[in-house]
Amino acid sequence: MNDRILALFEESPDAYVSGAEISRRLGVSRTAIWKHIEELRSSGYTFEASPRKGYRLLSKPAKWQLTELLAGLKTKVLGRKVHLFDEVDSTQTIAHKLVASGAEEGTLVLAEMQTAGRGRMGRAWHSPAGKGIWMSLVLKPRIPVYFMPQLTLLCAVALCRAIGQTCAVDVGIKWPNDLLIGGKKISGILLESSGEDERLKYVIAGIGISANLLVEDYPEALRPIATSLAIASGSLISREKLVQTFLFEFEELYALYLEKGFAPIRLLWEAQSVTLHRPIRTMTPQGPIEGIAEGLDDSGALTVLTPAGERIKVFSGDIEL
Ligand code: BTN
Repeated sequence: MNDRILALFEESPDAYVSGAEISRRLGVSRTAIWKHIEELRSSGYTFEASPRKGYRLLSKPAKWQLTELLAGLKTKVLGRKVHLFDEVDSTQTIAHKLVASGAEEGTLVLAEMQTAGRGRMGRAWHSPAGKGIWMSLVLKPRIPVYFMPQLTLLCAVALCRAIGQTCAVDVGIKWPNDLLIGGKKISGILLESSGEDERLKYVIAGIGISANLLVEDYPEALRPIATSLAIASGSLISREKLVQTFLFEFEELYALYLEKGFAPIRLLWEAQSVTLHRPIRTMTPQGPIEGIAEGLDDSGALTVLTPAGERIKVFSGDIEL
């Protein structure tokens, strides 16, 4: 039915098509039409709806330009092998399966849309079609399992640098790895790993970037806390260019990290952070903690100075600024 509705709009591009006409020509109720238009919206189509004139198709979902992406790639390893999908449950799930069948370090999974995108702490990740960058990167670092938080922080720095180079926005990192513009989230990172004898076998770095979502692409509940690069900068961004830049930045920082350890990454993270030297609040298994965020320790934990003068390390969780 969605295809038949789209065909009606194709017949008269840029024109309004009334609900009555769609209903008459396709033999379905007005409620059913509304439901299908909503489905099309969540697949990346944008419509204008006028109570008197009907619906007008404004734009179709963007499609990844894989040839363009690969042509402009400046990395040696990362993103040299890309698996692109129209729709997946989660790029993380696909990446885990690819590793099980022998995928090499640097393999990238990209999807136009995720039906069950996952975030940290069991949350869902809103991933509509053609609007964002929903990707998972396979890494095989020779480091102990307990160094994984450092890789998360490295990923946030690479992302922050890449966004800074490709969009006119002021982006900062909220500990541990949320990217914020004006206090609203534009990107999230989820690292999943498999290890053996305290060594990492592989890591899947899942990165979600809300690139070209418009306000109406977000559910009401997310609107006060989430934004996109397009909303913040006022123009649509090239997803291909951003992925190329991110992979390049990541590869450089990853090489630095594997050679020199976490110290240089930690300095870069601290420079991009919007968390440090500010009062924060967080919930830990031992109870709530409040204090001033001072910096990162060698493992990537956040050091918080409480009003009682005690220094506490926060290893995981969410913080409120
Ligand atoms: C978070 O901030 O909670 C992390 C969000 C991570 C979302 C990305 S989108 C690509 C990859 N696939 C997923 O299912 N999740 C990650």
